[in-house]
Amino acid sequence: MSYEHILVTEQIAEHVALIQLNRPKELNALNLQLMGEVRDALKALDANDAVRVIIITGNERAFAAGADIKQMSGKGAIDMLKIDQFTTWDQIKKTKKPIIAAVSGFALGGGCELVMHCDCVVASETAQFGQPEIKIGVMPGAGGTQRLPQAVGKALAMEMVLTGEFISAERALQAGLINKIVPVELLMDETIKMAKSMSRNSPLALQLAKESVLKSYETSLSEGLSFERKNFYMLFATEDQKEGMNAFIEKRHPDFKGS
Ligand code: CAA
Repeated sequence: MSYEHILVTEQIAEHVALIQLNRPKELNALNLQLMGEVRDALKALDANDAVRVIIITGNERAFAAGADIKQMSGKGAIDMLKIDQFTTWDQIKKTKKPIIAAVSGFALGGGCELVMHCDCVVASETAQFGQPEIKIGVMPGAGGTQRLPQAVGKALAMEMVLTGEFISAERALQAGLINKIVPVELLMDETIKMAKSMSRNSPLALQLAKESVLKSYETSLSEGLSFERKNFYMLFATEDQKEGMNAFIEKRHPDFKGS
C-alpha cells in the first residue's frame, strides 16, 4: 500500500513495524487523510503475521500538533457529523496488536489523544503533552475528556482540558501518562528495545493480554475478571502455551509461532 502522509516500515526490527506521521511542515497536524492512512496501515499490520508490535512516531519537533485546524475551521456541526471522523478513531482503537507511541516534541489535542490510543508511551525529554482545544473555542473530541482522567486523574486532566496548557515529559511521567523518558537521540532505539521485549512473547498472548487490560476500563471488576479468565483459558489451546512452558522446563528460549 502507498501512503501520502505517513511512512510505513514493516520490519524496523524483527516482528516490529513502524508508522511515522509525515507532515513535518504542519507539525504532523492530523488531517482526515492522514488519519485514514493510519487506520489503513494499522489494519494491514494487524493482519500481517510477521508483525507482533507496532510503533507510531512523528519527528523530533512534533509527534502531532492536533487535528488539522485549517481543515476544520470552516465546518459546521452538520458537516462534522457527516464527515464522521471519529469512526476512523474507533477503528484505530480496535487494533489487536500492542502499539507503542514514540513521542518527541508536541503531542497536542488529537496528537495527545492518539498517544492515548497507544498501549505504551516512550517520550523524549523534549516531549510536551496538552489538550489545547479550549483555546480555539472547542474541546477534545477524540477521547481526551475520557482517557486523560483515566490516565492522569481528575485534577490534572481538568487543568489540562480547561487551561489548554501543556505539560512536560517529566510531569507526564509523574502523572502516569507515559512509560519512560529518554534522551531525544535515543528515542527510537529505546522504543524498539521495548517493542522487542514485547515481540519476543507469544503474539496470541500479547493480543489477549492487551484486550484484557483494555477491558478493565470499560467494565466492572467481576465482569473484567471473568473476561480475563476466559482469555487465560483460551491461551491453553495454543501451541505457544506448550512451547512457552516446555521451554521454561527445558531451560531454553521459547520459539513462539503465533499458533
Ligand atoms: N492544524 C493545522 N496546522 C497546524 C497545526 C494544527 N493543529 N499546528 C501547527 N500547524 C501549522 C501552523 O499553522 C504552521 O503552519 P504555517 O507555517 O503554514 O503557518 C506550522 O504548523 C508550524 O506551526 P507554528 O508556526 O505555529 O509553530 P510554533 O512552534 O510557533 O508553535 C504550536 C507550535 C504551539 C504547536 C502551535 O502550532 C499550536 O498551537 N498548534 C495548534 C495546537 C492545537 O490547538 N491543537 C489542537 C487542535 S484541535 C483537535 O485536536 C481536536 C480533537 O480533539 C480531534
